Amino acid sequence: MRIAVMPGDGIGKEVVPAGLKVLQVVARRFGFSYTTTDYPFGGEHYLASGQTLPDSALKELAAHDAILFGAVGVDPRGSAKIPQGILETEILLKMRFELDQYINLRPTRLLPGVPTPLKNAAPADIDMVIVRENTEGLYCQNGGFLYKNTPYEVANQIEVTTRRGVERCVRYAFEYARQFKRKKVTLVAKTNVLRFAHNLWQRTFEEVKASFPEIATDYHHVDACTMYMVTRPKTYDVIVTTNMFGDIITDLGAAIQGGMGMAASANLNPTRQAASMFEPVHGSAPDIAGKNMANPIATFLSVAMMLEFLKQPAAASAIHAACAAVVADPKNHTADLGGKASMSAVTDAVCAAIDTHSPNNPDRTPSI
Ligand code: NAD
Ligand code: IPM
Ligand code: MN
Repeated sequence: MRIAVMPGDGIGKEVVPAGLKVLQVVARRFGFSYTTTDYPFGGEHYLASGQTLPDSALKELAAHDAILFGAVGVDPRGSAKIPQGILETEILLKMRFELDQYINLRPTRLLPGVPTPLKNAAPADIDMVIVRENTEGLYCQNGGFLYKNTPYEVANQIEVTTRRGVERCVRYAFEYARQFKRKKVTLVAKTNVLRFAHNLWQRTFEEVKASFPEIATDYHHVDACTMYMVTRPKTYDVIVTTNMFGDIITDLGAAIQGGMGMAASANLNPTRQAASMFEPVHGSAPDIAGKNMANPIATFLSVAMMLEFLKQPAAASAIHAACAAVVADPKNHTADLGGKASMSAVTDAVCAAIDTHSPNNPDRTPSI
């Protein structure tokens, strides 16, 4: 398998090399081989060359089997030299859109031993999978300014919603539920206000669900959803939602599963006509970058999702089991989980745990 590697900025440069260590260990253990191609894109490369992600590189990326991505972006409070959003839209969103990675799959699970801010919540209460539409909505960069920098300035940012885009996403959520024996799919939207775009979501959802009679369905407005995720997270099994709402509720999901350092994701092109991309949900975390403090578990679980997608389920399962075993012990907790362990210590612990995990263990936790 050919894997493109793009660490990006900040802690991306730390957690991706750690993820590659884990990949090397499982490859040896489970007897598969792979090659990697490194891509330098991110803030430093932009400052040195003026390039974000050239089309030639995008073409090369498309031809890989998968992309392992870290994070891009500067401090959200601003950077004098790099305009806000240029790296995110011209690198990360360009890959998601141009490689037609139309599903952003974000499992939200609380692993045993990981602290959650939710009082009384146990791992069995927080086990949902958020299927985020990934190539439409408010993310299309469809809009612009009129009369910029005048008192009459108008800024439009148009939500793009297509029947085809919604349908393939909703269908994916139901097929996922069927495949992994999930019981319920909840549509999260805002049909009471967004009466055009989200009406299309609702009608499509109603139509698609008819083909999945064994799966229960529900609908929540997104504002209520943020409340229920905190007050009764057990309500959710599979959630399907728009690009923007999916972005927001998956950070909330990350928070209840122990923080950004625990949340993994897959940007999938289920047709496999171009590479899919695997990345932690978190960003470049400028506040802790370069200190060997980042929690690498989100990246390891993203590597597991990548291997699941690349049909190495035993290796994926071994990573998952190793991460679960490691975080069950508070001595392996990084600072975000309230512990003192360094990123490299956690990485070593996960690599060691993989070596002790049985390759034939049938007790798999599917991540895709
Ligand atoms: P962030 O996810 O980078 O950080 C939010 C908070 O979570 C910070 O306090 C950070 O220290 C903490 N955190 C994040 N990941 C962690 C980890 N693995 N271990 C321990 N703590 C962790 O979000 P932000 O601060 O809003 O954004 C920083 C930059 O990253 C921005 O430029 C933003 O646009 C970009 N960003 C990029 C991606 C991506 O490339 N996929 C995702 C989100 C944000
Ligand atoms: C994420 C990030 C991205 C998003 C940004 C960096 C463009 O927040 O992957 O959740 O909004 O999708
Ligand atoms: Mn986000």
